[in-house]
Amino acid sequence: MAVHDSVVDAIGGTPLFRLSRLGAGLAAPVYAKAEFLSIGGSVKDRAALSMVLAAERGGLLRPGGTIIEATSGNTGIGLTIVGRRRGYRVIAGVSDRSAPEKSDILRAYGAEVVVAPTAVPIEHPDHLFQVVRRLAAQIPGAWLADQYDNPANPDAHVRTTGPELWGQTGGRITHFVAGVGTGGTISGTGAHLKQASGGAVTVVGADPESSLYGGGDGSPYFVESIGHFLHPGTEEDRWPVSFHRDVVDRFERIPDRESLLTARRLAREEGLLAGPSSGTAVAAALRVARDLGPQDLVVVLLPDSGRSYLSKLYNDDWLRRWGFLEEPRTAAGAEPTAAGAEATVRSVLAGSGPGGAPGRLPVVGSDATLAEALAVLRGVPGGVAPVVLARPARPYGISATEVLGSVSAAAVDRALAGGHAKPGGPVTALLGPALPTVGIGEPLSSARAVLGPDHHAALVLLDGRAAGLVHRTELGG
Ligand SMILES: Cc1ncc(COP(=O)(O)O)c(C=O)c1O
Repeated sequence: MAVHDSVVDAIGGTPLFRLSRLGAGLAAPVYAKAEFLSIGGSVKDRAALSMVLAAERGGLLRPGGTIIEATSGNTGIGLTIVGRRRGYRVIAGVSDRSAPEKSDILRAYGAEVVVAPTAVPIEHPDHLFQVVRRLAAQIPGAWLADQYDNPANPDAHVRTTGPELWGQTGGRITHFVAGVGTGGTISGTGAHLKQASGGAVTVVGADPESSLYGGGDGSPYFVESIGHFLHPGTEEDRWPVSFHRDVVDRFERIPDRESLLTARRLAREEGLLAGPSSGTAVAAALRVARDLGPQDLVVVLLPDSGRSYLSKLYNDDWLRRWGFLEEPRTAAGAEPTAAGAEATVRSVLAGSGPGGAPGRLPVVGSDATLAEALAVLRGVPGGVAPVVLARPARPYGISATEVLGSVSAAAVDRALAGGHAKPGGPVTALLGPALPTVGIGEPLSSARAVLGPDHHAALVLLDGRAAGLVHRTELGG
């Protein structure tokens, strides 16, 4: 067993496991690189160490200095472990979409955590990137790690992850599959593998279906830390310098549900408890392997551990609430039985449109006038509709995170009659609270519970996206 003077010396050197259960029936073997076994729990330890050492060499980070970074958590953990060991103060800016457990871990290792909202355009002063830039300018001796634009991030993988995989597979690797966040992992590892194999290794990006990297519409998705999402108010869409797109041969675009359910299979069937981005990567690797033969060898990288996501991806109630899980809930120890299961929201939604088609989703854009809102609301039972961020029509529907609030016909009528508003005025002036939400696989009793005494309708979620409205009158009970 290796003995180290410091945990920092133990970064990297992670094992490779064959996915024999998930890959059963495939001719090509699929191996997983278990980066969650790294000292800080993720692949980002490698980039963190590489960036700190480069900053010290370049004179950007000196004794008594402060390391600052905008991080989904994992880079912050790596930077905190490396930084605190080397005597620096560390400040991590974390987005409010990131799992709360990640911030707790950062604090445990000695970082100061600043939380910033995701739901603002990148140019907004409250955006995470602007917040950390301001801090870096204000604090003397501060260095912004800037993993998105720091060449030491992909370089970590050119020097470590790539050579490890080439060595561990004895040069037999033919396909490398990884998610793309900053792009450091795929760019550096992919570059080394292509160089070592004389260009023979195929590099595949595993991307959330609506992410812009793989050709999606840039609307929000639920898998954290990978892909590229675009707030509708963003003026200039800039991709990270750490992402070298010429290294990626193609993308596999994976819907959120497939990512989340694949991660759960990975834990249950292979004993590998990994995060949602690992689910995306493994789902992509299985698709890649389907077309390959026994002479091929696929490696997929698992960036972090599932322990940080126990309250989300590994929590059945959370999955059901966002419409990712539809199997009936069962009492402890009982087998699920179709006969005993209570009817779900899907059964109501399915038949509520014309001819039994899925129910219509009345939506008012945030750029609508009150007159335009009324035109939508007139046809809606109960006269209430969600108001969503103004944006062009998107093929993947409206993410639950894009819903700003609701508007009711009664409120508009009242304001117009009272002379408080004009028909050409903005709907946002009369924005009411967001409608309660219910997952499409939840029982009708859950829908009744979220309505409580005050609401007429609930927004139904399917795979985290708005699928329709259910009204009190449709719920029985
Ligand atoms: C869980 C997880 N998956 C994937 C990635 C993407 O890795 P990269 O930034 O090297 O593209 C990250 C990066 O932070 C991550 O934290």
